[in-house]
Amino acid sequence: MKPTTKLLLSALAFAASAALAAAAPAAENWENHCAKCHGADGKGQTKVGKKLQAKDYTDAKVQADMKDADMIKATVEGVFDKAGKERMKAYKDELSADEVKALVAYIRKFKA
Ligand code: HEC
Repeated sequence: MKPTTKLLLSALAFAASAALAAAAPAAENWENHCAKCHGADGKGQTKVGKKLQAKDYTDAKVQADMKDADMIKATVEGVFDKAGKERMKAYKDELSADEVKALVAYIRKFKA
């Protein structure tokens, strides 16, 4: 095997293992993508969260009003107001279906 071929193969193997490891745990994704608005504690009391009127996800009533399917849809497709203005962006390009599901389960745990 030519050294360049060997190098290419090991680079490919590395890329494949990196792709497999790409799914981050929900807590990490929450911190990196969501906490800015929803707060690390899910209360939405951050500067941006207050401005956008993010709901308090520790509130049992708020939780009861949210269906899992809607939560998934909101995360995948984003949240828009009646005028079509974006309140939360779509995460379909950044998070896998499994990561979104794990985040929904993570949000459910904020409930007091
Ligand atoms: C730019 C601020 C912002 C970021 C970042 C953000 N959101 Fe939101 N999100 C909102 C706002 C505003 C709403 C609408 C009010 C509410 O439900 O809190 C919302 C709503 C939601 C809802 C409720 C949908 C429903 O059924 O009512 C879920 C679930 C959600 N976000 C999850 C997430 C997740 C998961 C992330 C990170 C991957 C995230 N959000 C990142 C602003 C944000």
